Amino acid sequence: MFPKQRKRRLRNSDSIRKIVSEINLTVNDLITPIFLAEGEKIKEEIESMPGYFRLSLDLLEEEIDSLWGLGLKAVLLFAKIPNKLKDNKGTEALNENGLMQKGIKLIKSINTQILVISDVALDPYSSYGHDGIVLDNEILNDETNKVLSKMALSHAKAGVDFVSPSDMMDGRIGEIRSALENNGFKNTGIMSYSVKYASNLYSPFRDALSSNPGFGDKKTYQMDFHNRKEAISETLLDIDEGADIVIVKPGTFYLDIISDLNTKINQPIAAYQVSGEYAMLKASQSKGWIDYDSVVYENMVAFKRAGCSMIITYCAKDVARILNSKKY
Ligand code: PBG
Repeated sequence: MFPKQRKRRLRNSDSIRKIVSEINLTVNDLITPIFLAEGEKIKEEIESMPGYFRLSLDLLEEEIDSLWGLGLKAVLLFAKIPNKLKDNKGTEALNENGLMQKGIKLIKSINTQILVISDVALDPYSSYGHDGIVLDNEILNDETNKVLSKMALSHAKAGVDFVSPSDMMDGRIGEIRSALENNGFKNTGIMSYSVKYASNLYSPFRDALSSNPGFGDKKTYQMDFHNRKEAISETLLDIDEGADIVIVKPGTFYLDIISDLNTKINQPIAAYQVSGEYAMLKASQSKGWIDYDSVVYENMVAFKRAGCSMIITYCAKDVARILNSKKY
């Protein structure tokens, strides 16, 4: 009781604040998304994601070296597929010589230590812009799973460390795990989007990959954001099916979900701070309305405080710079 207890004693100086700090954010916590593009010398800025680019493979070495130099040790790959290669079967997704497969091999040849994680979903490859095979306006679940497991296998053959299914079909983790086990890829991990909401925050990403749904929305497979308990059952199912790491997406609006999962599961949790979150931060920075560096730092700490072990973020390079500056 006061005055025996004065909480301000532990806030009195930077040194005491640092020593009692419950959270220690480091570059080891961060995963950097990379958008791969066909062509050469392509470094196209994504309009709704200022400071973020689509990169052709010939520019990857420079990018990987720069990330590694900043201490960033993990990348999450997405591929922008030309429209002419899109269909309703995911044909290009299975091409052993496709952009994603080539990208994985190349990064592994540039740097054997960097952790390579690949997106597994059909939307960048789909003529309908949906995450699955479409029939009569329905996104088919079981048929999609068959393609996803082959897709995951082709990434494993290219040398990926973790596949990351972002599609939200039921049962896909189990199918992917069996495909990997049956083909000798017992060490290839699965980082599952276990909790992925049908959010309004993905639109800049869909600009980046030109992957807007051609009809309807994604509400029949991505989760309804009114629901909280459902996130736990989704995650427990994925773990049961073989997920090694689980993702909660989007991030900041869903800290309650991260916090719930943290009390219920022992697997590592990743937060995905999505494109719309990045766009909001960058837009207000450009207006001069927030101090971007300190807000981004606070945002990262919030993810860790909620209970995640890692953060997928388009701000990764900025965070590395902020941490290296020792300002916080
Ligand atoms: C699709 C996918 C999406 C994102 C990652 N994978 C978009 C969607 O579901 O439509 C969004 C990421 C972001 O907004 O940063 N499989």
